Amino acid sequence: MKIKSIVFDAYGTLFDVNSAAEKCKGRIGNKWETFANFWRTTQLEYTWLRSLMKRHKDFWKVTEDSLDKSMRVFNIDKSMRNDLLKLYRALSTYPEVKSVLENLKKKEFKLSILSNGTPTLLNELVTNNNLNNLFDDLFSIEEVKVYKPDSRVYEIPIKKYNVKPNEIIFLSANTWDVSGGGNYGYNSIWVNRNQSHFDILDYQPKNEINNLTQLLDIV
Ligand code: LAC
Repeated sequence: MKIKSIVFDAYGTLFDVNSAAEKCKGRIGNKWETFANFWRTTQLEYTWLRSLMKRHKDFWKVTEDSLDKSMRVFNIDKSMRNDLLKLYRALSTYPEVKSVLENLKKKEFKLSILSNGTPTLLNELVTNNNLNNLFDDLFSIEEVKVYKPDSRVYEIPIKKYNVKPNEIIFLSANTWDVSGGGNYGYNSIWVNRNQSHFDILDYQPKNEINNLTQLLDIV
């Protein structure tokens, strides 16, 4: 099997979603991590619910809505809202990301992101982290206005590159996204950063790695 393209999920896979709340931990206190996880879970639930209800709202608005709910639940001071949102637009990558991408680029793989994020958000994240020259494409679900794991999302790179799903390696740290891409037909690899357990959703990842560096031993 020839791999024609490597497609990455963004949030949680390349960019550290908890880093916004972590940078405010002095002001939030010990609950910062539980709060960050609740915000992330609520954000994802809202994407799934909106897709099911056919009431699309873009990922930035969903991020704001889920933050508002989470701040209420955790009783976080309203003055932190703008800071948290600003930090969320400038999330850091995980430490190994840039060098792995550079390595893959040298091997002449076509590299892209496929994400729930809007084109503007993805551009900002890539630019802030100096990754501009490394990606051939930043694919956003805004093209189809439905969220992952709808198969229309995973179809976006297939149409653009005119390849078969099994000619793509897809990497995500989000188990449900690995299952979504895998059920669609991708070779999905799970980036299991936190030693957790995989889902029971009729798909087993082709590989499981702990960070992206291990991808270089596979391709
Ligand atoms: C994304 C979410 C799933 O980037 O992390 O699409």
